[in-house]
Amino acid sequence: MQKFYKIITYGCQMNVHESEKLAGILTRLDYMPTEDEALADVIVFNTCCIRENAEQHALGNLGALKYLKAKKPSLIIALGGCMIQQDNVAKEVKKSYPFVDILFGTHNLEDFGVLLKKRLETGKKVVEIVGDKPKICENVVPFRTSYPNAWVNIMQGCNNFCTYCIVPYVRGREKSRSMQAIYSEVQKLVLLGYKEITLLGQNVNSYGKDLNDGTNFAKLIDFLQEVRGEFRLRFMTNHPKDLTEELVIAIANNKNCCHAIHLPVQAGSDEILKKMNRRYTSKDYLDKVAIIKKHLPDCAITTDIMVGFPGETEQDFLDTLNLVKKVGFASAFTFVYSPRKGTIAAEMPNQIDEAVKKDRIMRLVDLCNEQTRQFSATYLNKEITILCEDYDKKRDLYLGRDQYGRMGYFKSQENLIGEFVTIKVNSATGISLYGDIVEE
Ligand code: 5AD
Ligand code: SF4
Repeated sequence: MQKFYKIITYGCQMNVHESEKLAGILTRLDYMPTEDEALADVIVFNTCCIRENAEQHALGNLGALKYLKAKKPSLIIALGGCMIQQDNVAKEVKKSYPFVDILFGTHNLEDFGVLLKKRLETGKKVVEIVGDKPKICENVVPFRTSYPNAWVNIMQGCNNFCTYCIVPYVRGREKSRSMQAIYSEVQKLVLLGYKEITLLGQNVNSYGKDLNDGTNFAKLIDFLQEVRGEFRLRFMTNHPKDLTEELVIAIANNKNCCHAIHLPVQAGSDEILKKMNRRYTSKDYLDKVAIIKKHLPDCAITTDIMVGFPGETEQDFLDTLNLVKKVGFASAFTFVYSPRKGTIAAEMPNQIDEAVKKDRIMRLVDLCNEQTRQFSATYLNKEITILCEDYDKKRDLYLGRDQYGRMGYFKSQENLIGEFVTIKVNSATGISLYGDIVEE
């Protein structure tokens, strides 16, 4: 009888791609995907712990599965990902969610098939969460779900220990894949017809340092010029302290590289940046922006910004607003700081009041939305090339992004998913552009 699985993913692109690896493992074991929880034989939660709300969300949804398990005892519920890598959470799950069958961490994802078999054969709960040594797994074939886009992990882990961030604790130290392995994966994907490849790492700018053979991210970008075929190359995420001019030049020289850089700034106050252990000042950040603009004048710069870090004064917050004004971001992800157990910032004095955080995030979002609108407005009446990636059934519109990351919507009688399409933009609302196909 056909067996089915459902994977529920929380968090970042990295997690979405790891879920594709889990799906690859389940596919090899002859499971088929389903959206219907009642039909599923295996439900996997791939969790994220970077912010508190992602964690609460996952636990809430997990709790709701208790009744399903009671109705269908053969259902296997697995919980994995970086949330489980935290000791206190693993303990809490074991105690309060006894119906969970398999608990696994971030470092043994590729063993999921073995853990599942063990659970099925023994009928006993399987808990395998291994330390902080990321493994580079080269033998799992992901079941990709986002054609024409494909993600390629180039490294695992992070060495930075920003004081607010849980990632280095749950994902361990940086470990890079070889340039050759990355090149082969990208080339295969392009031959298979994928049109946009996004290289993934917590800090792609420090790619290769651990290989100790002179490899660096700029060299990888250069090397990937050899890949044959028509495709776009993106990468995320960058760290301002490690972004080099050599890299920006490599991006400018690579015909496939999108002129879009996600460069998280986090804060505009030097005092707060120091407390965050970001290891750059607001001037350093602006200098990096200037380097980008020098070689890539049209580059869309996007960012992550946080408000309410411990000790953040009104003046610190105004410094953040000022920096945002100076740079003019194409778009920004904005976050309210949430203390993560085990991080240095969680123990800092002067945690900020929720009402103050709320007020600041609203003011920041207003400014960022305005910048997003301004950037979109520059597109009016222009022709842009977008990679058609989806169809919005409700609106009967196809959609896709241009190289700068802006989403464009258009009408078409033909299915154009996977094609590069030129549209003329006739309206821009916030982050979305609307246009008509330009006939060649
Ligand atoms: N609280 C709020 N936001 C956080 N981020 C990371 N840790 C926290 C935290 N404890 C944000 C940062 C990062 C993005 C992925 O998530 O802005 O760049
Ligand atoms: Fe977290 Fe900083 Fe590493 Fe990014 S660079 S994952 S924010 S510790």
